[in-house]
Amino acid sequence: MPVIAVIGAQWGDEGKGKVVDLLAEKTKIVVRFSGGDNAGHTVVNPYGEFGLHLIPSGIFSSGVTCIIGNGMVINPAVLIDEIDQLNQRGVDTSRLVISDRAHLVMPYHLLLDGLEEKSRGGKALGTTKKGIGPAFADKAARLGIRTSDLLDKEVLLERLRSILDYKNTILTKVYRVSPLSFNEVYNQYCQYGERLAPYIRETTIMLEEALARGELVLLEGAQGTLLDPDFGTYPYTTSSSPLAGGGCLGSGVSPTRINHILGVFKAYCTRVGSGPMPTELKDDTGDLIRERAHEYGTTTGRPRRCGWFDAVAARFSTRINGFTGAAITRLDILDTFPHLKICVGYKLDGKTIDYFPSSVATLEKCQPIYEELPGWQTPITDIRQFEQLPVEARQYVSKLEEIISSPVNLICVGPRREQTIDKMPIL
Ligand code: GDP
Ligand code: IMO
Ligand code: MG
Repeated sequence: MPVIAVIGAQWGDEGKGKVVDLLAEKTKIVVRFSGGDNAGHTVVNPYGEFGLHLIPSGIFSSGVTCIIGNGMVINPAVLIDEIDQLNQRGVDTSRLVISDRAHLVMPYHLLLDGLEEKSRGGKALGTTKKGIGPAFADKAARLGIRTSDLLDKEVLLERLRSILDYKNTILTKVYRVSPLSFNEVYNQYCQYGERLAPYIRETTIMLEEALARGELVLLEGAQGTLLDPDFGTYPYTTSSSPLAGGGCLGSGVSPTRINHILGVFKAYCTRVGSGPMPTELKDDTGDLIRERAHEYGTTTGRPRRCGWFDAVAARFSTRINGFTGAAITRLDILDTFPHLKICVGYKLDGKTIDYFPSSVATLEKCQPIYEELPGWQTPITDIRQFEQLPVEARQYVSKLEEIISSPVNLICVGPRREQTIDKMPIL
């Protein structure tokens, strides 16, 4: 089974980091393929607890090469800090590789992310303000600076001079803020280049050779399907594709090579930032989930919006990703509830619909139709065999399996690597 894609199936923060850390033990290469340091992937393993933003979650497994893929945008300051922090905590980062095609987050991207959000007023998207949207916009506009540009100071100088002139015009004329100093930005990025040069490489050959040897490659998704710029709740989305298809584009692995597409679903739903979320609970139950699960963003610390599992959104996610299996995370968070709800349809203008509308205005009007299931009201964090779960928990998982129309491979019952039920082993 050479390539497994691990994909966020909801609005992000499903627990991809935990699942990748777990699977990476049997892997040779892990590639992160989308987003940048808007992502926050929590890993809890024998090294401790980590919140990774740019480095793939396979970094803790010895012998695993971790690639920051071409589809990512990299803030070099954040990456260097992440490398240093991991090293200080005894984690070896010598197997880290940065694609020479990945784009850089520049200081003007960070500034513009904040300024654009401010200018949206009450319609702010709730971005992470990490410069991600502006960096991907520049990539599409052919105004990006890539990691390979850091390797040649002359190339960097030429590229930065013309682009910074243009960006400074926008900063001063449109937003009426001070321009950035060319020398400061240039010198800073030359320093970053010197530090990161040993990691920057062409990566498609490395992947092709690994696949030819029959080695296992994991594609580590960031964000979640419902934040995809095409299929998510546009414009309340991110700016690169978290989908399985995005996994190919952002890594250089062909679609024909992917054998297993693992959708990572939380046992309920969360969302951070603005935009519609039909099952959001703005009541005590929502607060209870948030506090029990400590649902606060790994990247921004913002409280996550919490709600019941949305089967309409899950079926949509399955359709556009083609999941061949699923990981259900945080099942333990539901341990105390006497009753659980799953949204099986939406009420829209008096009619019942079972599809996920493309327009946010329509989605805002959708009211969830719930089916109620009994809770199990007993702790499950120490259970490691599916058969040992309470019958109500098994029923809940079976219901999710039916909705996702693919087998549940893994069930997570706690944040630590070993708090996992290998229901149908992938490897
Ligand atoms: P990611 O962005 O998809 O990697 O997810 P995050 O790391 O942002 O958020 C997932 C949170 O859930 C993290 O705090 C994880 O440590 C935690 N987590 C993952 N799986 C489980 C689980 O099964 N149970 C509990 N209680 N926590 C989990
Ligand atoms: P991981 O990989 C959850 C959300 C932001 C905001 C929207 C746009 O940890 O699952 P951006 O900064 O990308 O322009 O923000 O996308 N968002 C995430 N939400 N998890 C993430 O990543 C996210 N990355 C971006 O909160 O609503
Ligand atoms: Mg996260």
